[in-house]
Amino acid sequence: MKVLVLHGPNLNLLGRREPEIYGSKTLDQINEEIEALASQLGLEVDFFQSNHEGALIDRIQQAAGVYSWIVFNPGAFTHYSYALRDAIAAAGVPTIEVHLSNIQAREEFRSRSVIAPVCAGQISGFGAVSYFLALYTIFEEAGGV
Ligand code: DQA
Repeated sequence: MKVLVLHGPNLNLLGRREPEIYGSKTLDQINEEIEALASQLGLEVDFFQSNHEGALIDRIQQAAGVYSWIVFNPGAFTHYSYALRDAIAAAGVPTIEVHLSNIQAREEFRSRSVIAPVCAGQISGFGAVSYFLALYTIFEEAGGV
């Protein structure tokens, strides 16, 4: 089963970006850990990070018919990108929204996701583990082993 892991804007800076909020792991380290868990769960993962809304939309459009699931951290686009929301709704690929930080426990503007309503669910607040929990969910939804 193929899973697309999408990282949105500023996540390329992980490791040095506000580590007290986002932790000290780099995006490469997180991707390596996701890859290791995915292979244990029998999932095939591809990764894509972009700081550009249009590039993320293109990738979501291309995911239709190719990937069974998308795991998506939309970064700040979470809070206002109707275009990404529409892309997910149009692609018809079940998507899990993930966040490293607990978006409910931060500034008011972060507490709203315009993307979550078109997702299968949202996992927020557990650092890299948020991504791992998304993979476990996909594994279970696929019927486990
Ligand atoms: C984030 C939360 C967003 O509010 C923020 O803009 C990010 C990262 C997270 O993973 O906690 O860029 O998506």
